Amino acid sequence: MDRDELVRLAFSMLERAYVPYSGFPVGAALLCRDGSVFTGCNVENAAYGSTLCAERVALVKAVSEGHRDDWSVLAVAGKSADYCWPCGACRQMLYEFCPELTVLVARGDGAYLTLPLAELLPHGFGPASLSQGE
Ligand code: THU
Repeated sequence: MDRDELVRLAFSMLERAYVPYSGFPVGAALLCRDGSVFTGCNVENAAYGSTLCAERVALVKAVSEGHRDDWSVLAVAGKSADYCWPCGACRQMLYEFCPELTVLVARGDGAYLTLPLAELLPHGFGPASLSQGE
């Protein structure tokens, strides 16, 4: 799957988003090196803080299916005029498994930017950081 197709897949997830509170649907699609793709959408909750972001839904689907260390590209899509930037918690969760991940950030008109996760989360705290004090 090429990058344009991955972005289109992320857009297709907008219709699955459960967003009765924010009205702000987000879609995500995570491509692995073997061609596997894991999709996600945001899933909100009446207890607002229990909401799951689209990126983290895709992430946990990948990890729970055994894809933990072969991520390649993540696409994130929203309907806004601005690009759908991943929140801080999602950046952190992505960094845990793939600091070298490429992220495609799309906006409502279909345009998207390509950035390394390291640019979205510079000097990230990851598994290796925990062992540096030993
Ligand atoms: N949201 C995501 O799905 N991903 C992000 O990275 C940013 C925020 C969702 C959470 C909530 O359902 C809605 O967007 C508004 O914050």
